[in-house]
Amino acid sequence: MARLVGHPADRGRVGRPASVEFAEVVRRRRMVRNYDADRPVPAEVVDRLLGYAVHAPSAGFSQGWEFLLLDDAESRDRFWAVTTTPGEVDGWLEGMSRAPVIVVAHSHRDAYLDRYAEPDKGWTDRDEARWPVPYWHIDTGMASLLILLGAVDEGLGACFFGVPPDRIPAYRAAFDVPEAYMPIGAITIGYRAEDRRSPSLKRGRREQPMVTHRGRWGG
Ligand SMILES: Cc1cc2nc3c(=O)[nH]c(=O)nc-3n(C[C@H](O)[C@H](O)[C@H](O)COP(=O)(O)O)c2cc1C
Repeated sequence: MARLVGHPADRGRVGRPASVEFAEVVRRRRMVRNYDADRPVPAEVVDRLLGYAVHAPSAGFSQGWEFLLLDDAESRDRFWAVTTTPGEVDGWLEGMSRAPVIVVAHSHRDAYLDRYAEPDKGWTDRDEARWPVPYWHIDTGMASLLILLGAVDEGLGACFFGVPPDRIPAYRAAFDVPEAYMPIGAITIGYRAEDRRSPSLKRGRREQPMVTHRGRWGG
């Protein structure tokens, strides 16, 4: 924190307690899998959420993310038709398909390879081996988290979920998504309806002390 002291933007901020509102948004965030189908999300709220996404950090400020917004019945139905198994409607799909808004988040690897080939970075070989961790997926995940947190702040529910790998070609075809863009996941957004707790939560949260290694791994 010492390095922050003295920065004009931080004057009067250092030493004050963290924002209660922020802590509350983080604490309240959870994946919501059922929505009020009769309550649309105002367009300006959706714009705000997408606006938060583009404030995510990105390696080299590459910003290699693109979002497909599906907020009309025809495109939402098409999304569910191509990403799920025909005839297999379960409680998950019933609840999720009531969401009035779906945002599909795509990562764009080439934006990073191009950016890092620029003179200030100089990786002109564009070798993917330089990227043991694909930052294009990470950054798009960070942008997605801002949408999830923003939804809580707006009084909405949201759920990030994967597009099954075998469905990706059909998804691309249905929405003209070029091969260069990978759908890392989709986010349903809407006003919350009663939903079932995810069975995964039985695993329990791995609390901070269990996952923090101080000074040395295993220490
Ligand atoms: C990368 C990622 C993929 C996920 N995929 C799915 C999914 O396909 N379906 C689903 O219902 N939830 C999915 N989730 C939500 C997780 O199940 C959920 O975050 C986890 O159980 C913790 O619950 P919470 O987010 O409500 O605290 C995914 C979450 C992440 C971060």
